[in-house]
Amino acid sequence: MNNPKKIAVFVSGGGTNLQALIDAEQNGIIKSGKISLVVSNNANAYALERAKKANIPTVYLNKKELGGQNGFENALKSVLKEKGIDLIVLAGFMSILSINFTKDYEKRIINVHPSLIPSFCGKGFYGLKVHECALEKGVKVTGATVHFVNEIPDGGEIIMQKAVYIKPSDTPETLQKRVMEQAEWKILPKSVEKVCKKLK
Ligand code: GAR
Repeated sequence: MNNPKKIAVFVSGGGTNLQALIDAEQNGIIKSGKISLVVSNNANAYALERAKKANIPTVYLNKKELGGQNGFENALKSVLKEKGIDLIVLAGFMSILSINFTKDYEKRIINVHPSLIPSFCGKGFYGLKVHECALEKGVKVTGATVHFVNEIPDGGEIIMQKAVYIKPSDTPETLQKRVMEQAEWKILPKSVEKVCKKLK
C-alpha cells in the first residue's frame, strides 16, 4: 500500500489489543493503515512498553495536569493534528470522550468492547467488570464488539462482533482471557483494516 492511513491507538493498561494490532500490521492483516502513534492517559501503562519495543512514538497525557476533560481533549486534538492522524483506535482506553472530541472525528474513532453490544455496555461497563456482570446474569454466550465511537458510551454503529461460549467453570478472569483470545484480538485488527480501506 503506497499511502497507508495514519492510525493512533489510545490505551490505558496492558495493551494486549495494541499488541494484536502491531502483530497484524507486521503479518499483513493490516495493510491499509500504519500505527503511527500510541497515546496513553496512564504513565504506567504496559502498553507504552509494547509501543516502544515496536518503535512507535508514544505520548502520555495527564488529564488532571491539563485541567480536566476539556484541556485533555484539546491536547489530544493538537497532538493528532500535528501527526496527521486519520483513524483513532480505542484499545482498552478507560476514559470517555465527550462530544467536543468525537464530533471532530466522525466515523474515524473505533473501539473494542468485551461483550456483545447492546448487552453489558455503556457507562461503568469496562474491563473485568463486564465479564463479572455477564457471569452474574448467567448468559451462556458473550463475546466482543468493535464499533464506531460517538458521544454515547458504546453507542456508535457496530462494525464487527464475535461470539464466545461461556463455560460453567468460568471466572471473570478466565472469561476475559478467552474473549480476548477468541474475539477481541481477531476482530479488532480486521475491523481496522476494513475501516482504513474505506477511509477517504
Ligand atoms: C479489553 O478487554 C478491552 O476490550 C476492554 O479493556 C481490556 C483492555 O485490555 N475495554 C473496555 O472495557 C472498554 N469499555 P488490553 O489493555 O490488554 O487491550
